[in-house]
Amino acid sequence: MKHWQLNKEECGIAVAVLDRAGESTNSLSAEVMAEFAQILDQLELYPPKGLIVRSAKAAGFIAGADIGEFSQLDTPEKGRALVARGWDLFNRLAAVKYSTLALVRGHCLGGGLELALACRYILAVDEPGTKMALPEVMLGIFPGWGGMLRLPQRVGPAAALDMMLTGKGIDAKRAKKMGLADDCVPPRVMEMAARQLLLSKQPRRPLPFVQKLLAGPLKGVVANGARKQVAKKARPEHYPAPYAIIDLWQKHDGNALAAPAVVDRIIQSPTAKNLLRVFRLQERLKGFGKDSDFAAKHVHVIGAGVMGGDIAAWCALRGLTVTLQDQNLERIAPAIKRADALFRKKLREPLKVRAAFDRLIPDPTGAGVAHADVVIEAIFENVEAKHALFRSLEPRMKPGAILASNTSSLKLEDLRTVLAQPQRLVGIHFFNPVAMMPLVEVIEADRADPAVVRAACAFVKQIDKLPLPVKSAPGFLVNAVLAPYMLAAMRAVDEGIAPETVDEAMLAFGMPMGPIELADTVGLDIAMAAGKQLADGAEAPRCLLQRVEQGQLGKKSGQGFYAWAQGRAQKGSAGAVPAGLAEKLVQPLIARTQALVDGGVVADGELADAGVIFGTGFAPFTGGPLHYREK
Ligand code: NAI
Repeated sequence: MKHWQLNKEECGIAVAVLDRAGESTNSLSAEVMAEFAQILDQLELYPPKGLIVRSAKAAGFIAGADIGEFSQLDTPEKGRALVARGWDLFNRLAAVKYSTLALVRGHCLGGGLELALACRYILAVDEPGTKMALPEVMLGIFPGWGGMLRLPQRVGPAAALDMMLTGKGIDAKRAKKMGLADDCVPPRVMEMAARQLLLSKQPRRPLPFVQKLLAGPLKGVVANGARKQVAKKARPEHYPAPYAIIDLWQKHDGNALAAPAVVDRIIQSPTAKNLLRVFRLQERLKGFGKDSDFAAKHVHVIGAGVMGGDIAAWCALRGLTVTLQDQNLERIAPAIKRADALFRKKLREPLKVRAAFDRLIPDPTGAGVAHADVVIEAIFENVEAKHALFRSLEPRMKPGAILASNTSSLKLEDLRTVLAQPQRLVGIHFFNPVAMMPLVEVIEADRADPAVVRAACAFVKQIDKLPLPVKSAPGFLVNAVLAPYMLAAMRAVDEGIAPETVDEAMLAFGMPMGPIELADTVGLDIAMAAGKQLADGAEAPRCLLQRVEQGQLGKKSGQGFYAWAQGRAQKGSAGAVPAGLAEKLVQPLIARTQALVDGGVVADGELADAGVIFGTGFAPFTGGPLHYREK
């Protein structure tokens, strides 16, 4: 066999070890699965006392199905055959007479988790990389290899639907707690624990009474509740997969083959094809960090405001030592408070929260500059202030350290004039709110040192953000494409269309937030300043001017286009959306995206689509603005 090894131990236990040839991570290709079927054939002839399934990869257990094979599903027959392949194989595994156990260390995703679920026992190894998830919904498909059948049986329908409809990951401890894993052990005892559990004859923990009710007589209630939850986030015409998952569980016990029409519809849907494209684009962005061996240990951030404070917190969350500088401690304090909330939310365990907190060091005198591998400037948007800062910074920095500015609107070529080594300045442009936005633009100034740009990409990748290299140009990519779109939206308001109607048009198109609410959220003064810079001299919309003059600045002042209460826009009813409105508003965004590709600001159309999706939330199911236009 090419990908599997089958070891038989003296005690009668067989161990199937997956080490997919030619890849750094395991995935379930047709070949890998065919070989696993051979293993089951062999074991049928000479049944072992028990079978352990495990991975030989350092990276993890199994990352899922082979994504490359999805793009070849050009006929309904091929789609159904793919579903049948895993459904049948894992049913066979679930039915074997001998005991079976999946030893899960590292990622165990999609088809990998479905394989584990078909084993009698799941043993989770407690280490930071261990994560179990059924993320199929994010690719616009469903867990059709038994996940929809077996996950609800193990953890109850509510928790199972939550995992399948969000794609979220579960760590080892949590997996044990919710009954997904039978046990959770540290790496040093995993070998012994696996063998003990395998032969233990320990019965599966029964589902609690309430969960049994929810899986039985109350199934319809659970399904309806789940549909309502999904409807809050995704419209069925944009994202059919989560609705199909609920239907398949409710009506067919998770057997997609019982509803071939649903399989055809989902697998052939443009959404599934486009989300697969988005997944590939994301992998491409991640690739930008790979051709540099730069790795930061210590980051120094200057300016503890909205951006700098949150950038510092994010870097500390990601394991880096961070010194955070501002004019005095009082200005740093609010950032530390926000960081505390972020750590608690993301890390939960008090010891980990404490450790992250210890990594974030207030540094009003800037002592950290001399030790930092990356220095990020996020002070006021003012050339003179930044010049003065750079002058004092450069002589104190370590020779190979990255010097970066988070500026949104100033030219790097103007900022670097005070530097002895101007070619070392790079833009690392985060988006607000830092913790939520996956994209970071890495700005290459004219004649910048390419090695510095590569190192900056590696740093962005290191902190688990998606780096997008762009050339130095007003608004870079993301703000530059947003400006004409927001302008068009406000012109529509000037023409008498209610803000609610404009927003509804774009929500129906698939945007995560309407453009008018977005303007209110960003702040109307900021929107006005950005417009001045990026709208090619076009006059400001009247509706915007009036509000700014009256001090109505949006969310932060409690009133903008909408009144704001408890952080929410108080919207009236949207009314009927005029035909063609969404198209009219999105056209300028698409045209600007194309212009930036033509002008070389971003390297190609794919990367532009990736940047606009991950930087603005542009409807992912469309595959991005340029892809949408071509369809
Ligand atoms: P902010 O006004 O919230 O914070 C700036 C902080 O810098 C203040 O706390 C101030 O005390 C401090 N500061 C000013 N001069 C300093 C100096 N010489 N030494 C130490 N600290 C100093 O500003 P915000 O919004 O965080 O913006 C910072 C930078 O990030 C700007 O360049 C802006 O263009 C950029 N940016 C802002 C975004 C936003 O949505 N607010 C988004 C992306 C980039």
